[in-house]
Amino acid sequence: MKRRTFLKTTAAVPIILGAPSIVKAAGKGSQKLRIGVITPGSHFWTKSMTRFGESLSKKTNGEFEVTVFPSGQLGNEATMIQQIQSGALDMGFLTVAEFSNRIDDMASLFAPHLVGNVNEGSKILTGPTATNMLNQFETLGMKGFGFGLGGMRHLISRDPVSTAADLGGKKYRITPFAPLRDFFNLMDVAPTPIPLPGLFDALANGQVDGADIDLELAWKLKLYDKAPNLNITNHMMFPVVSVMSGRVWSKYNAEEQSIIQQTVTEELNWLFGQYSKFDPQWQSDLKGTGMSIQKSTDKSFFGPVLDQWAEIWEPKAPSIAALRAEAYSI
Ligand code: BEZ
Repeated sequence: MKRRTFLKTTAAVPIILGAPSIVKAAGKGSQKLRIGVITPGSHFWTKSMTRFGESLSKKTNGEFEVTVFPSGQLGNEATMIQQIQSGALDMGFLTVAEFSNRIDDMASLFAPHLVGNVNEGSKILTGPTATNMLNQFETLGMKGFGFGLGGMRHLISRDPVSTAADLGGKKYRITPFAPLRDFFNLMDVAPTPIPLPGLFDALANGQVDGADIDLELAWKLKLYDKAPNLNITNHMMFPVVSVMSGRVWSKYNAEEQSIIQQTVTEELNWLFGQYSKFDPQWQSDLKGTGMSIQKSTDKSFFGPVLDQWAEIWEPKAPSIAALRAEAYSI
């Protein structure tokens, strides 16, 4: 879309078409968007939303002005979801984990070993089943723009772990959401929810023996210092979703909606590219710290746990079947 066309149409629409319920003042900074994210500024999720703001502003000649609030400045994700539902916050770039506590079917995206690596994860998260799942955010009063990736999950630990039997009776940090809690309970591991900022200390003082984590955080939070053993398991994806308050979304005309959607999609694609590029890099960076790395990517590492997880979640999360069929054909 040409910038001049966008601006002309946006300014003229209320008069010519009379369609939008809200008459907007045109001009630089007349459309303000606030986005909440839980990750710090250095994390790729935060960077992708910053890029979104810059790109949207550029495409609209400054009409859209986007402010990103990183590091949970507006509250934790549960609080941000409430704010988005009420329209007090315009947008969020939030973990699908938090949404799975409200929409059971979102657990489908955490099916263990659904995909084997970040590239397969990117394909599944942009495939027909996941795209269709975005409609479910309407039940929460939100517009779902698209899923993105936060890498694959692995296990880091203070002591070496050779087999899943070594995990029994241990305490592992998890992100608190039911599908992951079940996964760890099935392995006889005590799942311990610890917010990311407290994880380094929790590993240092032995509050937990290990953590369910991605390579980006293992590297950027320097977790290798306190948990020098890494099992590359790729056991789950860790998806993120871009959402907007339904109340806010409905105030935009079709052209504005289209440019917002298109810009989010571009930045989600950028984000997929970052994980594809940096995943091998982080692995070698972590190795360079002296970390002991074991490849445990075979499904057999988890023994009967994958089937047991499926027994619990397949009845509650119907999209698992379609996602598995898609993943099979990748
Ligand atoms: C986590 O809880 O592990 C997490 C949270 C946000 C982004 C990535 C990971």
